Amino acid sequence: MKQRIEQILAEINELKCKTQKEVEEARVRLLGKKGEVTRLFEEFRTMDKERKKEFGRSLNELKQAAQNKIEEYKNSIGEEANAAGPKEDLTMPGDAFELGSRHPVSIVRQEIVDIFRKFGYDVAEGPEIEDDYHVFEALNFPPNHPARDMQDTFFVSAGHPNPLLLRTHTSSVQVRAMENMKLPIRVICPGRVFRNEAISARAHCIFHQVEGLYIDEDVTFADLKQAILLFAREMFGPETEIRMRPSYFPFTEPSAEVDVSCNICHGKGCNICKGTGWLEIMGCGMVDPNVLEASGIDSKKYSGFAFGMGLERIAMLKWRVNDLRHYFENDMRFLKEFNTSIEV
Ligand code: PHE
Repeated sequence: MKQRIEQILAEINELKCKTQKEVEEARVRLLGKKGEVTRLFEEFRTMDKERKKEFGRSLNELKQAAQNKIEEYKNSIGEEANAAGPKEDLTMPGDAFELGSRHPVSIVRQEIVDIFRKFGYDVAEGPEIEDDYHVFEALNFPPNHPARDMQDTFFVSAGHPNPLLLRTHTSSVQVRAMENMKLPIRVICPGRVFRNEAISARAHCIFHQVEGLYIDEDVTFADLKQAILLFAREMFGPETEIRMRPSYFPFTEPSAEVDVSCNICHGKGCNICKGTGWLEIMGCGMVDPNVLEASGIDSKKYSGFAFGMGLERIAMLKWRVNDLRHYFENDMRFLKEFNTSIEV
C-alpha cells in the first residue's frame, strides 16, 4: 500500500497537462470511479483498524494532492487560452438577421394613405362585422333592391330586420364618419372586405379597399376629378392621365369608373391593358343626396364625392402580378420579392 501511495504521488507531481482534455483524462485516471486513488480508498475500507490508522492520513493527503493538481491545471490552462485571445474570431462577419418584409398589399395601402394624408384626409376605421344598415340601407340600397345583388354578401345573422354581415365594402365606414364627424369631412377608410365569390386568379372572397369621402359646401364633380387626377399622378407617375366612364352605384349620382393610362405601354396597347391603353382602378361619384340625408347632413347645403378602390388590384398593376391568389397564400418566395420596400 505504502509503495503504491508513493508511486501515485510521484505520478501526480510529474503530471503535465497541456489541454483541458488532458486534465480531464488525468482526473478520470486518478479520481474517476475506477481511478487509481479511488481504488486505494476501496481497499482501505476493507482494512482492519490498525492498518487504517497507518494509511488513513497519507491516503487523504494523496487525494488532496491529486485534486489540487487537477484544479491547478484546469484554471491555468483556461488562463493561458484567454491570454492568447478569445476563442471566437471577432472579425468574422455576423449571421445575417432576417428582417420580415411588408406584404405588398400593406405597401400599397401605406402609399395610398400617405398620398391622401398629404391632401388633408384623415384615416378612419370601422368594424368588419357590420350591420345591414351601414353597409346597404344608409347607402341608398332599400331592402330587396336589386342593386344588393351586385355584392354577394356573407351574412352572420339572417332573418333579422337589420342582420349582421361581413362588410362588402368600406363605404360602411364612411357612413359612420358622416354620423360622427364634424363637417367638413375629409376621410379615407382602408380595410378588409368580404364578398361571396368563387376564388380565382381575378377574384377572391376577401380583399382590401381604400375608400374616400369628401363633404363640404360647394363640392363639385370637378373637385372629384382633380383629386383623382392628383392621386393617380402621385401613385402611378407624373405622366399619368385619367379617364372617367359613366357607371352606377346606388350611393353616388352621377357615378363613374376611373381608368388610368397604362404605365407599361403608355397608351400604345399591351397585354396588361388588353390593348386598350387604359387600366381600371376605381369607382367614384358624387354622394347621392339620399345618402347625406340618411346620416343627417343637409343635402341643400352640402355636397360631396366618394371613391373606392381595391388594393390587390392596384398592387397587381404596380407589380404586374397576374394571379390574385398569390396575395393570400403567403408563399415566402413571393413575399420575399418585396423585401426591398421595407422601411425600418
Ligand atoms: N363601394 C364601391 C365598391 O365597393 C366603390 C365606390 C366607393 C364607388 C365610393 C363609388 C363611390 O365597389
